[in-house]
Amino acid sequence: MTAKIDIGVLVSGSGSNLQSIIDNIEKGRLDARIRIVISNNPEAYALTRCRNHGIEAVVIRQEDHPDRESCDRAMVEVLKGKGVELVVMAGFMRLLSPFFLKAYPMRIMNIHPALLPAFPGLHVQKKAVEYGAKFSGCTVHFADEGVDTGPVIIQAVVPILPDDTEDTLAARILREEHKIYPQAIQWFAEGRIEVRGRQVRIRGVEQPKPVVLFNPPLEER
Ligand code: GAR
Repeated sequence: MTAKIDIGVLVSGSGSNLQSIIDNIEKGRLDARIRIVISNNPEAYALTRCRNHGIEAVVIRQEDHPDRESCDRAMVEVLKGKGVELVVMAGFMRLLSPFFLKAYPMRIMNIHPALLPAFPGLHVQKKAVEYGAKFSGCTVHFADEGVDTGPVIIQAVVPILPDDTEDTLAARILREEHKIYPQAIQWFAEGRIEVRGRQVRIRGVEQPKPVVLFNPPLEER
């Protein structure tokens, strides 16, 4: 049995990724304890999810601090005070300062609803549809000082269908987010993640199957 890792989750909105982490923990599939949830949005539905599951949560808003770094100092103080070993950004819509990144080097994960390095930033499901891309997906990566640029841990690919809207694509991607985030956190808890520069290796993991996807599909002739 793996020792449980103490995590802190940063949220801004609905918190469906937080919910998938909670569900995986409750089912005994994820060896983690959520020591604290921090929201920068007092209206976030993620806070209701915390109340429903007896998870401690606090609101820390940049507006209540003179600048980003002092806000981040307050967040780091809370996280360290709770013994948090891994910070999990789950729909947290704010960039972290260098101070925060230094406090948790290679110990901050983020999930992004696109296949990085394509479509970093915001509203990326809309951008992928408008671009006419044929595939998108989601990425779990370590946070670094850039916008969605840190070393990639795991990705899932979904097709973009001809009738997709921003919302239908976002829903298809979100279903896969809920699978890859708990997996990445579990690998971290098991101490199986090895980072060398940009290369992330998971010790003892199976080779991926050499599948190729075509969209639209090739036609037989
Ligand atoms: C998720 O799709 C997540 O990947 C995205 O926000 C959504 C949050 O949903 N994050 C970003 O865009 C970060 N750049 P949730 O609150 O239901 O987990």
